[in-house]
This record gives sequence, structure tokens and C-alpha cells, in this order.
Amino acid sequence: MTAELSTRVMKADMAGTTAAVRCLAAGGLVAFPTETVYGLGADAGNGEAVARLYAAKGRPQFNPLIVHVAGIEHARALGRFDANAEKLAAALWPGPLTLVLPKQAQCAVSDLALAGLDSVAARVPAHPVARELLKTFGKAIVAPSANRSGHVSPTGAAHVLADLRGRIDMVIDGGACPVGVESTIVACLGEPTLLRPGGVAREEIERVLGHPLADVSMSETAPLAPGMLASHYAPRTKLRLDAEKPLEGEALLAFGPSLPAQSAHATLNLSPRGDLIEAAANLFSHLRALDALGAQSIAVMKVPIDGLGEAINDRLARAAAPKS
Ligand code: TXA
Ligand code: MG
Repeated sequence: MTAELSTRVMKADMAGTTAAVRCLAAGGLVAFPTETVYGLGADAGNGEAVARLYAAKGRPQFNPLIVHVAGIEHARALGRFDANAEKLAAALWPGPLTLVLPKQAQCAVSDLALAGLDSVAARVPAHPVARELLKTFGKAIVAPSANRSGHVSPTGAAHVLADLRGRIDMVIDGGACPVGVESTIVACLGEPTLLRPGGVAREEIERVLGHPLADVSMSETAPLAPGMLASHYAPRTKLRLDAEKPLEGEALLAFGPSLPAQSAHATLNLSPRGDLIEAAANLFSHLRALDALGAQSIAVMKVPIDGLGEAINDRLARAAAPKS
């Protein structure tokens, strides 16, 4: 059991950054906004802080963590970039893309954070608050999504507090996350492989590479991204996907301008104008809000699969999977 902490909520200003840096340097846990979702940060080189981070999240096993840095120069000290990794970083960093790279021998990240792997997942976030924090701290910050293990990712400070108040030292409130789904993860350990669809659409990555990405199927028994186990993103309420209309007692997660004639217990629309970027930004907050109603189940309308639709459908499929 972790002892109860008083979780400080700070504004995203200079005082907030200064307090966060002090806290991280002392081995503390700080949740901060990125353009994708809120991350729960710890000093990547401090094994004890990383252990407290896993405990705060209640992670059943030690999944490897994404290492956040301020720029590609710093990322080069963590992992080795081949020609494809160079292209992707040049075109898409800072931004919602994580690259899994062969670990450098002198990589200054605790083994616990890497779960003993010889690869490292590196990301340069674009959110101004995350960038300011990374620049001021000057060292790498490991940050999984700032939710209890198994819950949906937080896209606002209130979501972080609902899950982690009393378990972490501080949260910087930078408002809602503009992208709303986690970063796309691409392994550059040979042929570039999509490990997790996310905030950068597959089409954009393939355009930069000039060829299609290889895929890791969700059914692999030893997935390359262990956090991608099927039921990872589960709300408590059951989800019914590709629903045409809500059934008696169901809440409705809608998409697009044409709603079913039957009215639901409660309806939230991911994007009334059918825009996938807007839908991604609303996905986790709408899931949380509908989950809180305690409806019998949540009917989810079909969402197209192109662009950010791939990441949205991936998260919905995981949220709907039976809990392991
Ligand atoms: O948008 C994001 O990526 C957010 C923000 C906070 O940056 N972070 C995030 O972290 O989603 P997390 O811990 O919830 O997901 C990290 C994923 C997990 O599926 C983990 O297994 C995978 O990254 N991962 C980390 N290191 C890896 C490695 N060396 N090889 C393969 N997968 C790795
Ligand atoms: Mg997560």
C-alpha cells in the first residue's frame, strides 16, 4: 500500500513548472498534460521513483514506460536511430509519435522503467506545458498515462484526480488535451512496425516513410507492446459496438450528424459533424462521463476506420473486450 499523499493541483504557469521540477528531482510523481493524454511523470533515472509510479497506477505487471525528452538530441542518447527513425523524427517530432529504438549502452533510464528490455520507447511531446517541464527539468521523464491501471486514459486534470488523488504528489492543470488519444507507437528495430495506432494517422507515417508499415496483430501471444493487452482501456460499463440504435436502458455514444430515432437513457456525440479529429479528442472524456451514469451498457455507433479512426476503433475494441 502507498501512504496517502496530499495531491497538489497547480496552474500551468512558471510557479507550476518550478514546483513540478522540484518534486521530480526529489523523486516525486507529477501528472502533466501532453497533447495526447495526461502523463504521470517520474525522473526516468530514479528507480525508486519509477517503482512508486507503478504502485500509484496499480499496474499488475511492470510494463515498459515511454521516455519523454525535450528534443531529438536527447533522444539519441537513449536509443539508436536508423534511417527510418531519422525520417519519422524529423517529420513528426515534436508530436504524438513514440519510436521504439535499440537501447544505447549508456541510456540513463532505470532498468525497471524499461522492464529489462534492450529497446527504449522515446517521445518528444508537442504540448507547451510538457515541453516547458522537460526543458526546465533537463532530464528524461518516464510517463505512462495518468490513470489507474485498466481505466481509460485521462484527457483532463479532473480525470487524473478522480483516479489518482492521494496517490501522487502533484498535477499540473493545463486544460483538455487537444489530441485525446495516446501517441502512435512505431518500432524501428528493423522493418518499421506499427505497435499501437494513435494520434498520428498511419497514412501520415506511411507517407513520410514512402512505404506501408508492418503490423503487429492484436492476437499475438507475446505482444511487442505489452500494455496493449486486449482489455487495457476498459470502462466499468459494458460496451456494445457498431450499434445502430440504443436498446432499453442503454446509454449512447454517437458519432456524426444522423442519430437513431430511438432516444437513449443518455447520449453523447463524439463529433456531431462527423470529424475524426474532434472524435478522438472527445473519446475518453465521453467514455468516462457515460461510464459514470451506471447504465446497463453503452451502445457505440460505428466510427469510420480511416485517419484517426484507426486509433479510435482500436481503443473502443479494447474497451469492449472482456476484462482479463
Ligand atoms: O500518448 C502517450 O503515449 C501517453 C503520454 C503520456 O505520452 N503515454 C502512454 O503511456 O500512453 P502508456 O504507459 O499508457 O503506454 C505505453 C505503451 C505500452 O503499451 C508499453 O507496453 C509500450 O508503450 N512500450 C513502452 N516501451 C516499449 C518497448 N521498449 N517496446 C515495446 N513497447 C513499449
Ligand atoms: Mg496507458
